[in-house]
Amino acid sequence: MPHVRTTLPSRAYIDSEWFALEMERVFARMWLAAGRADQLDHPGAFLRRDVAGASVLIVRAADGSIRAHHNVCRHRGTGLCTEPRGTFHGSIQCPYHAWTYGLDGRLMAAPQMDEVAGFDRSEFPLRQVACQTWDGHIFINLSDTPAPLAAQLGDLPARFAPWAMSDLRLAHRIDYDVATNWKLVVQNYNECLHCPVIHPLLNRMHHYLGAENVPSAETYCGGAMGFKDGVETLSTDGKRRRDLLPGLRGRDREVVNYFAIYPNFLLTLHPDYMMTITIWPQDCGRTKLVAEWHFHPDEMAKKDFVFADAIDFWDRTNREDWAISEQSYLGISSRGYQPGPYSEREKQLWEFDQFVLSKIGHGDPETRS
Ligand code: FES
Ligand SMILES: [Fe+2]
Repeated sequence: MPHVRTTLPSRAYIDSEWFALEMERVFARMWLAAGRADQLDHPGAFLRRDVAGASVLIVRAADGSIRAHHNVCRHRGTGLCTEPRGTFHGSIQCPYHAWTYGLDGRLMAAPQMDEVAGFDRSEFPLRQVACQTWDGHIFINLSDTPAPLAAQLGDLPARFAPWAMSDLRLAHRIDYDVATNWKLVVQNYNECLHCPVIHPLLNRMHHYLGAENVPSAETYCGGAMGFKDGVETLSTDGKRRRDLLPGLRGRDREVVNYFAIYPNFLLTLHPDYMMTITIWPQDCGRTKLVAEWHFHPDEMAKKDFVFADAIDFWDRTNREDWAISEQSYLGISSRGYQPGPYSEREKQLWEFDQFVLSKIGHGDPETRS
């Protein structure tokens, strides 16, 4: 009998030690998609991201650069900021004893510390987190010695250059809080076998077996799907109410690209807009998701610009996915679960499982099954 590829054992989904290993070896070592540069459009604008036991402030500094700092005061460790996003007015001040930092993280003021012999303010800047951008997407890396972002992205920058993603601007955001394991969100994204059952509307737009997948890479998998006749983009009725993105030619105008960029980024590119979903695991069975819709600024400037058709389509489809991912978690976390066989059309899910195992399973035979 040829070997049948199966899903992961339940402990990959419900064991808190396994989850801790994933946070340590995947989320605290790899580049994580964290937001968009255009959302930090003035000095002091910031986003806060909490992940893998860290809290990170991503800030537009006075010199225009984007910096990421640990959200931890260098005095007695207090969290500096509890807001998810906003603006620091010129500096970042700790709410406890008013140590004050520049937007670049430099310690500018430390009340009462001048009396301390040997204290040197320059030795206590905010701890930096590595931060780089790709075509408008901000990535952070919690490692002290990260590999370059380009190494993780591979050929993706060249592949998606025609979309000119850095030109696009945010029109809408929805935060979701889903009772499932983060891996089930990635796996669900990577197959459309469920589309006829779960997504009656999406299934009117694509042929569910029509994915044109590219060979998976070490750090991503994905592919394109064409439309059924008469469908121009993913919207509530399949009509496209915005011009094509200006850089697209040929087949790129007729498909949606679905790419899961490990570990936390789902990038969905349509002929006329981009949807991004970033994945923020909270614990084994809880995952926060940030979905954002981005459009071309020339379209957004038009008096008759509309986007509800795209948001409504995807909010409905996303909620269908989250609901089945929650139900999937219920079964996998119950006593009756045993690993089940993947079909040939679920190859990308198996490849993603192998990615996770390669990161956390190395040297631990218990995790290889
Ligand atoms: S803990 Fe931040 S100023 Fe004291
Ligand atoms: Fe789905």
